[in-house]
Amino acid sequence: MSTTTLITADQLFRKVDHVVPAVEWATMADDVNAILRLKHERNAVILAHNYMRPEIFHGVSDIVGDSLALAREATEVEADVIVLAGVHFMAETAKLLNPSKTVLIPDLRSGCSLAESITAEDVRELRRQHPGVPVVTYVNTSAAVKAESDICCTSGNAVRVIESLGVPEVIMIPDQFLAANVARQTGVKVITHPGACEVHERFTPADIRQIRADYAGDVTVLAHPECPPEVVDEADYAGSTAQMIGFVADRRPKRVALITECSMSDNVAQEYPEVEFVRPCNMCPHMKRNTMASIRHALETMTHEVTIDAAVADRARLAVERMLAVGAK
Ligand code: 13P
Ligand code: SF4
Repeated sequence: MSTTTLITADQLFRKVDHVVPAVEWATMADDVNAILRLKHERNAVILAHNYMRPEIFHGVSDIVGDSLALAREATEVEADVIVLAGVHFMAETAKLLNPSKTVLIPDLRSGCSLAESITAEDVRELRRQHPGVPVVTYVNTSAAVKAESDICCTSGNAVRVIESLGVPEVIMIPDQFLAANVARQTGVKVITHPGACEVHERFTPADIRQIRADYAGDVTVLAHPECPPEVVDEADYAGSTAQMIGFVADRRPKRVALITECSMSDNVAQEYPEVEFVRPCNMCPHMKRNTMASIRHALETMTHEVTIDAAVADRARLAVERMLAVGAK
């Protein structure tokens, strides 16, 4: 039997103390201690997206990041079990890159409006309509859609991926807004699909103008590129969730508004207490299916295991690996 001393919920509180009240943390202590023990027993790691609640993000996860970082880190995992605290496409990507490991998603209902907007047949139809045009697929899609694609991208590397192809025209699916934002940055003609993120499509230019008016212009506004281009135009900077965190870390603005999912500000505020966060957020209901209880249940019961048909997985993996190779150059 291992003699390793496990850290306890009490010891972890300092990692969330700026954004989680002590009384709330106390109600989670039982789940936190169980998760810490189960991770050890199962030889499991928790990969958590930047939109996880702070108690998950700072409290029990081992690796955190945006979609790109989680995909990259998934290739380095040595544990036997990966719990993906995020949404289903992220767990599928982790499984594609770790076919021999057990990948668990705490709640099978953790979908994504972008992933649900497009099918493999939609991609085949786009190829029929635009023969010879390469298909660049946002990672926010099913493995079946990735399998029909030439290369994947995330919001963090979309421009680099498109530029790496050296072509005048691409099919970029399924996010019409990310595609429009990237088209403007690259000058490449982009054929897209009418998908949208249900969280980011709700922000408007008027929201940002109102924030600036509320603080007499003394606020830095960062937007995710899943927002419509007219929203990105109103922002000071647009980037993936990790790029937004990097901006705050490097520039330490006095006051910042992150135009994205609600938990981002909490997670970043814990690390930069001197920065004031304006919180005009929208909640992602799919990300919020991850709770302490659902993560504990996943580790207790070893559910829900993510599986991908081998023929689909082989083709989808190629598209993801091509993306990772672009970043590695
Ligand atoms: P990032 O890759 O920027 O973390 O975005 C993922 C996502 O789902 C944003 O809505
Ligand atoms: Fe999908 Fe939007 Fe939720 Fe991200 S925030 S998982 S893109 S619905």
